Amino acid sequence: MSQVNRIGLLTSGGDSPGMNAAIRAVVRTALAGGVTVTGIMRGFSGLLDSEFMEMTPRSVSNIIQLGGTILKTSRCLDFYEVEGRSRAAEILRKKGIDSIVGIGGDGTFQGLSLLGKEHGVRVVGVPGTIDNDIPGTDITIGFSTAANTALESIDKIRDTAASHDRLFFIEVMGRHCGALALEVGLAGGAEAILIPEIDVDLDRVGQIVRDGRQRGKKSFIIVVAEGALKDGAMAAAKGVKERTGADVRVSVLGHVQRGGSPTSYDRALASRMGREAVTALASGQTDCMVAVVCNEMKLIPLSVTWEEKKSTDLDLLDVAEITAS
Ligand code: F6P
Repeated sequence: MSQVNRIGLLTSGGDSPGMNAAIRAVVRTALAGGVTVTGIMRGFSGLLDSEFMEMTPRSVSNIIQLGGTILKTSRCLDFYEVEGRSRAAEILRKKGIDSIVGIGGDGTFQGLSLLGKEHGVRVVGVPGTIDNDIPGTDITIGFSTAANTALESIDKIRDTAASHDRLFFIEVMGRHCGALALEVGLAGGAEAILIPEIDVDLDRVGQIVRDGRQRGKKSFIIVVAEGALKDGAMAAAKGVKERTGADVRVSVLGHVQRGGSPTSYDRALASRMGREAVTALASGQTDCMVAVVCNEMKLIPLSVTWEEKKSTDLDLLDVAEITAS
């Protein structure tokens, strides 16, 4: 690993289950190759405050099963400014950090890329977000766990919805992206799924409820991504109640989806991606993100993550509709 002496490792943006497994993989792969790793606390905010933690193989013991991030995280506005990045570069130089692995989403990657271009720091991104909204990779760390967490709640709500013959609106996370809503809506047998990518038509939802009743359905689950319409599931519930007179209830799952012990899928994915990030730096790569495409590890330019938009598999809506009929 001749090109890398000291890696700075940070997590930034919204946390996601599996980030700790990725931290563990980066630290242990680097140390095994003779490269030191400095943990940067609280993402770019901690970097600007010089909050560091030296990483050893033992500092990442017993974290593979933990949600959250031992390095903590933040959303840092100063890093969007040239001046903030200059200060960061100076701090990194003093600390002897020549490379950064950043685990997060597209905002994290934009900051990293600019830091790399403006100050020559080598940067590699690892996609960690429950939203699965990062173009260039099939999947992001945390999506599987968040989907399973949401699904567990949806299954429980289904029990009470069926007992009371009620119509439930369940809001899941996803301000700009409906991937999580689609996944759990399909897997949870939802009668309708509302996502930000498609204009919400409450008349149509009302019709789905009326048609379902005609076919003998008594209870309904509608999954709503938080960004599907202004005021999310509350607004959808109000509109459909007015149209159908149904006995409606709303459940907003919220940040529970961001926590919890990662699934085996997320732990394995994070371990593979963490190792790949270090290998990429060691082979001289920079300004790239580790991606998984058809289960193979790839490196893609960081710019893809904000210049392109991840396409949503709208076929899932059709599958959900026919299978819930
Ligand atoms: O990006 C992850 C995410 O959980 C989104 O699904 C959600 O819209 C947002 O973060 C919530 O952010 P915060 O925790 O800062 O309120």
